[in-house]
Amino acid sequence: MTTFYLTTPIYYVNGLPHIGHIYTTVVGDTIARYRRLRGDDVFFLTGTDEHGQNIERAAVSRGMTPRELADSIVAAFQETWRRMGMSHDDFVRTTEQRHALGVAEIVRRIEASGDLYSGEHEGWYCASCESFYTEKELLPGNRCPVHESATEWQSEENVYFRLSAYQERLLELYRDSPGFVQPRTRLNEVRSFVESGLRDLSVSRAGLGWGIPFPGRPGQTVYVWLDALTNYISALGFGREGEEAARYRRFWEGGDVRLHLVGKDILRFHAVYWPAFLMSAGLPLPTTVWAHGWWLRDQRKVSKSTGNLVRPDELIERFGTDALRYFLLREMIFGQDAQFSDEGFVDRYNSDLANDLGNTASRVVTLARSAFDGKTPPVACDDNPLIAAAAEAVAGYRAAMEELAFQRALESLWRLLAEANGYLVEREPWKLIKSEGASERVARILYNGLEAVRIVATALLPVMPELAPRVLAAVGSPRPPERFDGPGGLEWGGTATGAPLPAPEPLFPRIDKEAYFNETPAARGRAGGGEAADSGEGSTEDRAPAGRGAGTAPLEKTGGGQARAAARAEEGDGMITIDRFFETELRVATITAAEPVPKSNKLLKLTVDLGGESRQVVAGIAKEYDPGALVGKQVVVVANLEPAKLMGVESQGMVLAASVDGAPVLLHPGREVPNGSRVR
Ligand code: MSP
Repeated sequence: MTTFYLTTPIYYVNGLPHIGHIYTTVVGDTIARYRRLRGDDVFFLTGTDEHGQNIERAAVSRGMTPRELADSIVAAFQETWRRMGMSHDDFVRTTEQRHALGVAEIVRRIEASGDLYSGEHEGWYCASCESFYTEKELLPGNRCPVHESATEWQSEENVYFRLSAYQERLLELYRDSPGFVQPRTRLNEVRSFVESGLRDLSVSRAGLGWGIPFPGRPGQTVYVWLDALTNYISALGFGREGEEAARYRRFWEGGDVRLHLVGKDILRFHAVYWPAFLMSAGLPLPTTVWAHGWWLRDQRKVSKSTGNLVRPDELIERFGTDALRYFLLREMIFGQDAQFSDEGFVDRYNSDLANDLGNTASRVVTLARSAFDGKTPPVACDDNPLIAAAAEAVAGYRAAMEELAFQRALESLWRLLAEANGYLVEREPWKLIKSEGASERVARILYNGLEAVRIVATALLPVMPELAPRVLAAVGSPRPPERFDGPGGLEWGGTATGAPLPAPEPLFPRIDKEAYFNETPAARGRAGGGEAADSGEGSTEDRAPAGRGAGTAPLEKTGGGQARAAARAEEGDGMITIDRFFETELRVATITAAEPVPKSNKLLKLTVDLGGESRQVVAGIAKEYDPGALVGKQVVVVANLEPAKLMGVESQGMVLAASVDGAPVLLHPGREVPNGSRVR
């Protein structure tokens, strides 16, 4: 029996769950359910990441203690997971004692291997906050974003981890276990990051109250990522003794699969820092880190820090949790970004669920009930073209599920539904019933229709844990199987003959699209959105001393004064405060390469040097500028813009241009200045 351990990231507790968090957890839950049905020994973990400066600040801005904030948000996450039918085996909170024991143990081991040393950490320090800020976070004049008072350049003593010593071993890991990072394209990304050289990592903070005290280093707190990553083993009992560590031994030390599901923005922490910490501590590594893409809305990442949200409540209320689960898995190619739109959601619901699944099921049930006195047909049928179609669909489904290709898995099942429909349309049992009544021929045809739907619904159990059993009950199979390979599983012939068939209930009522979009147009534009942006996922960057997290969102400042000023500006006459303006990070960059974007007559793909950092920026200037003439020119770039895809090409910023009669005219500094210079 395969022991299969899988985890979601643990979620920050500075905001309510949105579609991005739900996605990772739905993926985890679907894999966990699939694996259990396949007969594996599964442990599925999720939880919350509750320490660190960001949480502390978010709490302060709400007038709460960090613990109060964490408790209230954790309750919301747990309630959402319950509503969404998540079947996690455990929910870990980094504020739990069992987690602190695991962190203490991993630190002890890393220390014992000689990989920790004390060093200076420098930055802008606000005495009132007792914390450091990055230049980006400061108000003009290097002022504190919370207190608006002057900060000082200070250095503090921190504990450093010898990350640089693990460069070779990490490269070896990527070479020897190419499946360690999935999808493969992401492995290249991680490898080139490591190849470009690893700097030692500060793994403690001085004077940060909200965190785990660093063992043996008074006044120091464990760096939030070392704290957070350790959840994957602390939840299993690492750092405890005997029976309390039994799960750790079973699923981590002795487990066959240790799979971390993560979003692409936190891949580096999982594929570089985490294995290095584990290597240093002499512990087994995860077998796979699987990075998925982002849900985008209007080309921007769905994210709390930008206020670009898709909250689940309205969708769940209207369509049910399983429709949302289905949509998320069907619509996103696992590993790539996907667009969320309300229209796309309704279309997918109507075509796949209401029509293909719902109508096929209710049509065949209605016919069987009328012909066979409210029962399934009295004879089974083991010789018909749907048997081969079902075997093929199931094989395609299983192969795709093993590769986490959910979209393909679902497509394979929907091919079987299409075959079943074609089979019924060709044989017209509704006509035969009129001419022959409950004949053997009619019995066989309807048995096959019911059986095809049963197989699809059985394979959908991991995806739609609430509705798939109801579809099964509707087609006369009220007891969902425990195993795919057991009775009533994915083999042909599981439908019982002569079994009661309840009157069909509408499982997927069709949505009248026009009426739906007219109901509450404001809400339609932004399903469940509208929550004020506040501090958030930009904190990935805050946690990444070794560089810019790929495509992190701009940080919204939450400091009381500033938040109030921003709120005033939002209520007012379209004026914004200077602080608001300075949230846009404008920097000078030199264009080092330029080429047209394929199939576009407007877009150019530019590579720009932002002062030691190279970025790809897509600009709508192809009609006005010759790519060759742009190379070497300095331009002004919005450096903290969410990455977005334009004609399939990622843009990591935006160049500024005056708009003259609708045509762009690029802005250049008056003389050559160092790349990366801030524009104020
Ligand atoms: N707390 C850290 C993770 C620590 S794991 C040891 C964190 N938390 S988070 O709440 O900001 O994000 C959790 C996960 O949600 C990440 O994997 C992130 O990629 C994912 N998503 C957040 N927004 C997303 C989308 N718009 N789309 C898909 N997933 C995204 O990072």
